[in-house]
Amino acid sequence: MTSPVVELADDRAARRGLRLFLKRDDLIHPELPGNKWRKLKHNLEPARAHGTLLTFGGAYSNHIRATAAAGKLFGFATIGVIRGEEHLPLNDSLTYAERMGMRLAYMDRTTYRRKHEPDVVDALRDQWGDFYLLPEGGSNALAVQGCAELGAEVPGFDVICCPCGTGGTLAGLAAGLAPHQRALGFSVLKGNFMDGEVERLQRETYGERRGDWRVEGGFHFGGYAKRTPELDAFIDDFADRHGIVLDPIYTAKMMFGIFALADRGAFPNGTQILAIITG
Ligand SMILES: Cc1ncc(COP(=O)(O)O)c(C=O)c1O
Repeated sequence: MTSPVVELADDRAARRGLRLFLKRDDLIHPELPGNKWRKLKHNLEPARAHGTLLTFGGAYSNHIRATAAAGKLFGFATIGVIRGEEHLPLNDSLTYAERMGMRLAYMDRTTYRRKHEPDVVDALRDQWGDFYLLPEGGSNALAVQGCAELGAEVPGFDVICCPCGTGGTLAGLAAGLAPHQRALGFSVLKGNFMDGEVERLQRETYGERRGDWRVEGGFHFGGYAKRTPELDAFIDDFADRHGIVLDPIYTAKMMFGIFALADRGAFPNGTQILAIITG
C-alpha cells in the first residue's frame, strides 16, 4: 500500500514560485502509522523468529506504542525499556503499550545513555532471556531499508522533507531517491550530532554514505518535545488553513522550517517540495 500525496494550496509557497505537497504517510496503517510501519516492517520477521523483541524509549515514545501494537498484531512478545523512573498512574502511551501486552521495565537516565553498550545489553539478557534487540526509535539497518522504499513512491519531486529524531527515516529516504532528487531532514533535537547519526545508519546499512541529503538544525524550538507560542500559533494557523493538525514534536517543526526556508529564498523558483507526514 502506498500513502496518498496531496498538494497544499498555500500562498506562502505560491508567492515564492514553489509547489508544496504532503505525503500522508500517517494514513498508511491505523496502529503503526508513518515511519513506524516503514521501520518495523522488515524487523517483524526476525522478531517473530526470536519470539521476543526488546526496545527502548521515553515515556511518551511513539515508537514504544507502535512496537507494542506490532507485537500483538504480528505475534511476538515485547519488552519496553523506558527511560527514567516509573510514574503511576501510567500515561496514555504506556497504558496503551501495556494493554497491547508489552512488559515495561525502567532504566535510570545514566545507564539509559549507555543502553546500547554490550555490558548494559548483557545485563538485560540476564534479566529477560533471549530477545531481538531493536534500538531506540526503531532505527537499525532493516528500518533504513524500509524507509528507503519511500523513494520509489515519490518520483517527480525535487526536494523531499522529513523530520529527524534518531535519523533513520532520513537515512533511508535519502538512499532511496533518484539521482536528481534531494532529501532535507529537520532535526527536532538540539545539538549537531544528527548528520553523524544519519551517516552512521547509512554506513551500517549500505557500507557507504548514500544520496543527496542535508540536516537542517535551526528548527528544534529548544529541543525534543519543546514548544513555543510561535510554534503553537503555527500549528493552529495550519489547521485553519488546511484542516490538518500537525504534531508538535515532529511534523510541525518540519513544516515551520519549510515555510521559513521558502521565505528566505532557499528553494529556486519552480521547485516541487514534498513533505512526508511521518505520523
Ligand atoms: C511522527 C514521527 N516523525 C518522525 C520521527 C523521527 O524519525 P527518526 O527517528 O527515524 O528520525 C518520529 C520518531 O520516530 C516520529 O514519531
